[in-house]
Amino acid sequence: MTNSKDFTFCVPCLFGVEGLVADELRRMNMQEVRAEDGRVFFQGSLADCAAVNLSLRCGERVLLELCRFHAGTFDELFEGTRAFPWDKLLPRDAAFPVSGYSLDSSLFSVPDCQRIIKKAVVERMKQRYHLDHFPESGEEYKIRFSIRKDQVHVFLDSSGTALHKRGYRPAHTEAALRETLAAAMVKLSRYRGKGDFCDPFCGSGTIAIEAALAALNRAPGLYRSFAAENWRFFDSKIWQQARASAIAAEYSGNYHIFASDIDPRAIQIAQENAVRAGVEHLISFTIEDASHFSRATEHGVLVTNPPYGERLLDRQQAEQLYRDFGAAYARSENWGLYLLSSHTEFERCFGKQADKKRKLYNGMIKCDLFMYYK
Ligand SMILES: C[S@@+](CC[C@H](N)C(=O)[O-])C[C@H]1O[C@@H](n2cnc3c(N)ncnc32)[C@H](O)[C@@H]1O
Repeated sequence: MTNSKDFTFCVPCLFGVEGLVADELRRMNMQEVRAEDGRVFFQGSLADCAAVNLSLRCGERVLLELCRFHAGTFDELFEGTRAFPWDKLLPRDAAFPVSGYSLDSSLFSVPDCQRIIKKAVVERMKQRYHLDHFPESGEEYKIRFSIRKDQVHVFLDSSGTALHKRGYRPAHTEAALRETLAAAMVKLSRYRGKGDFCDPFCGSGTIAIEAALAALNRAPGLYRSFAAENWRFFDSKIWQQARASAIAAEYSGNYHIFASDIDPRAIQIAQENAVRAGVEHLISFTIEDASHFSRATEHGVLVTNPPYGERLLDRQQAEQLYRDFGAAYARSENWGLYLLSSHTEFERCFGKQADKKRKLYNGMIKCDLFMYYK
């Protein structure tokens, strides 16, 4: 069972990063990788499931697909769910909460779909365990479903806590980026540990920390746990082996990663987060005004997420900051720039048109990643 590639997995992700997640999965040698809006499917083994949970940088969770079927009515949803042999996976005392979503489908009431799916699983379990009531006092097997255009997918969530929660950031500053989005920006900048890397609006340090993890080729989930580690059909040796392989694949090197912010409290938090991530020795933190940015480099990349004039600063203050930072950037040589902002007038204020733009969502905020290759 461990090495059979017969399982289908689904990785939900932020809109705009599907291609990056698919690329990560292909580099990990996953099979039949196919991206859709907001998620990527692949074929793999249980060992692959562990490896992907540990190493994926840009995806949100790893879901094991159990069944898929068409359902336009609650009866079809019930029968389709009950047809799966739940009793073969879930022990008698399993906790099995159900959650999910429905898009463009006849069955649009999510609470009702949740209730029907739960009922169908219980029905199937009753046949085997002959219980009227399931205590759900054991390990958690979280059931997730998606219904898109009447096509139902039912999954088990192998990750548990979402993958963006690496464990290094209990403290973050206001408007902190999700770790998976920061990792996506680093990936788009093509930084792999060569040359200089700098985030001059670093806040809680997420982008610089993700850059350091990428430079080290460190699996971002190495020091956290996953729901599937408690599943009875999932041999714990798989996880030990996956962790050992991830550690063996790490690099060591001399990296030049800089992170600064005008706010001393942000720098304090960023440093604490870097310590927890085990990368504090790779990042130089300083309190600096990005308007005076003047770091010399032969070859460097700035990857950053300044205030947008929404949550931090007002619109006019953000525009002035973009003008000042644009002027500082124009005076600096040999830096590429990857800057995320939702501000529609960013390029005009910054004083230069981006070489390329890419749509990314920071939570619900639609942003552009402005790319300057220089
Ligand atoms: C959107 S937050 C960055 C969040 C960060 N990416 C994270 O994940 O925590 C923008 C940051 O820019 C900083 N900032 C505002 N004006 C600045 C300036 N003139 N120079 C440097 N940093 C500045 C703020 O203190 C804030 O921490």
